Parts: sequence; C-alpha cells; structure tokens
Amino acid sequence: MPQIKRILVTGGAGFLGSHLCERLVNDGHDVICLDNFFTSQKSNVAHLLDKPNFELFRHDITLPCWLEVDQIYNLACPAAPGHYQYNPIKTLKTSVLGAINVLGMAKRCGATVLQASTSEIYGDPEVHPQPESYRGSVNTLGPRACYDEGKRAAETLFMDYHRQNKVDVRIVRIFNTYGPRMHPYDGRVVSNFIRQALTGEDITIFGTGSQTRSFCYRDDLVEAIIRMMNNSEGFIGPVNIGNPGEFTIRELAELTIELTGAKCTMVDRPLPVDDPTQRQPDITLARKHLKWEPEIALRDGLKSTIDWFRSIDLSHYRAPTPNY
Ligand SMILES: NC(=O)c1ccc[n+]([C@@H]2O[C@H](COP(=O)([O-])OP(=O)(O)OC[C@H]3O[C@@H](n4cnc5c(N)ncnc54)[C@H](O)[C@@H]3O)[C@@H](O)[C@H]2O)c1
Repeated sequence: MPQIKRILVTGGAGFLGSHLCERLVNDGHDVICLDNFFTSQKSNVAHLLDKPNFELFRHDITLPCWLEVDQIYNLACPAAPGHYQYNPIKTLKTSVLGAINVLGMAKRCGATVLQASTSEIYGDPEVHPQPESYRGSVNTLGPRACYDEGKRAAETLFMDYHRQNKVDVRIVRIFNTYGPRMHPYDGRVVSNFIRQALTGEDITIFGTGSQTRSFCYRDDLVEAIIRMMNNSEGFIGPVNIGNPGEFTIRELAELTIELTGAKCTMVDRPLPVDDPTQRQPDITLARKHLKWEPEIALRDGLKSTIDWFRSIDLSHYRAPTPNY
C-alpha cells in the first residue's frame, strides 16, 4: 500500500492544480487545495468537495498560512499572459511572497516542496531546444517580466532555502500544457483557437504563424510532476517537463479547424512584445531521472480538449481583461 500523505496544492483550483488534486485524491492522499480563485472557479473542484480526503481553502498565498503537511505543490500564480499582465505587481508578489510562504511552511513542517516553474524563464531563447543548463534571455523591463522574473526569483529562493535551511525542494520547468479546464478566455493559443473555432469567430494568428510551440497534454504533465515530487534519487531539478514535438502556430490552427469541423478563416495580427519565436524542451533529464516522457499525441489531446470546450457554457466564464 502506498503511504498516505497530507498534501497541499496551492493554485489547486486552477487548470493544472485541479487535475493534480483529482489525481492525488484518487490515489488516497489527504489533499488541501488552496486558491484565491483569481483565474479559476470553484466548478473546477466542485466534484471533489464531498470527498472526505479533500479540503478547499480560500486563501491568498501572498499572505502566510500555517498548515501541517508532508508535501506542497506550489502552483499558485496566474499563468496566461492576459492573466499575469492584468496586475503585474500582484503577479510578482504571488511568485516571490508565495515562494517565501510555502518554503517557510516546508521548513517548519519538514515537508518536500515542489515549485511549478516555467519555460518562460528561458525568455526568447537563443539555444534550441532548451536544456536546463541554458540560463535564458529575458527582458527584465518588458510586460512579460512580472511573470518571467517572478518565476526566476522563486527558483532562486527555492535553491537558497535548500542550501541554507536544508529544505527538500523540487523545481519543474513546465512548457506549454493544455487540456480540459483551461480558462476559455485565458488568451493562450490552444484555448483561443478552440473557442474561436467553436463560436465561428475568425482564428487570430499572431505574427506570421511560423513561430513554434511544443504542447504537452495535462495528464502527461501531472504524471511527471508527481514522479518528480516522489523520486527516490533525491533529484531536485530543475527539470524540463513538456512535449518535445514541435508545431508551428499555423499548424495548430489548421488542426483545430479540422478537428472542430469549423468553417472559419485565419486572420493575422501583429506579434505581441517579447513573444518567443521558438520553444521546445530538451527532456533528457526527465527521461533519465523520472523515466518519463509524454505519451499523448497532440491530435488526441486536442480532441479531448475540444470535447470539454463543447460541454461548457461560455457565459459562465468571463474575459479577465479588456485585451481578450
Ligand atoms: N499551463 C501551462 O502551460 C504552464 C506552463 C508553465 C508553468 N505553468 C505554471 O503552472 C501553474 C499552474 O498553471 P495553470 O496553467 O493551471 O494556470 P491557472 O491560472 O489555471 O492556475 C493558477 C491558479 O493559481 C491561483 N492563484 C493565482 N494567484 C494566487 C494567489 N495569490 N493565491 C492563491 N492562489 C492564486 C489561480 O486562481 C488559479 O487557480 C502556475 O504556477 C504556472 O505558472 C503552467
């Protein structure tokens, strides 16, 4: 029998957090989901509320809290550009103060704490694909910096608490992940394309559409971060988690149109400031230390995501900023 653990998931009502909570609850752990619902809604975890091993805690991670747990997954942070640029100062506070608060808790409880970092810490990379040893090319002054630099500072805090206070940490750098429960108005490319295709709007392509991204399905991601948290080698990372399959934005648009059966046209828009032109994870370390690699093909993951988008009522969600 696997040992039952008390586990805190910050940002647990979000897209990735809600799937992680669901998996941990189904595995029999005692799960506390902490969220301030800035970019999510309770409906993401409503199906878990009557489970005896699930608890929902409305709290803002920029403020300290005292909980007794064995493991902490720190996912609380707005992740889509439209969300994190809505209040950039709060975004930076969430990354930095949130990291300090979960690390303090982990130090006090002796818990293992995992940081959901991001491929954005590589900025607009000059190295392709990006290995963990690449130090990145981030514009500290641009509109994306609140997120990129916040996540970089959080990684620094994780390593300093590890060296100075012997806190058991894990750092995963997540590359574009998609799937059911993405916020339909988060402005991320997968949710934008599906929503536009299903509502008969034009599909907006930023730039020429030749910029590439790698898309990882949420189930592959959840499996990887659970393996990272529990790896017995004491491997702390950072480790890239993502799908190395690379697609142009135009290819993604064409596949979305094919799978939805939509009759819409593609319209070009200017590329946003500091938008990276290429992004592809080097997952050598994940393969070696976690024996992990993604299994779900883009076509299959996209089909499930489209089915979920068909099942929701878009009027229950709203655009968080006037930009979308
Ligand atoms: N999905 C991806 O492609 C991706 C890529 C790289 C990194 N990540 C990281 O993974 C994590 C989860 O991302 P997601 O895609 O599920 O985004 P999401 O926006 O759906 O989830 C983030 C959750 O954090 C909550 N939150 C935000 N600020 C908070 C605060 N101050 N206190 C408490 N809760 C707060 C939000 O309400 C939301 O439920 C984030 O840290 C993100 O940076 C995601």
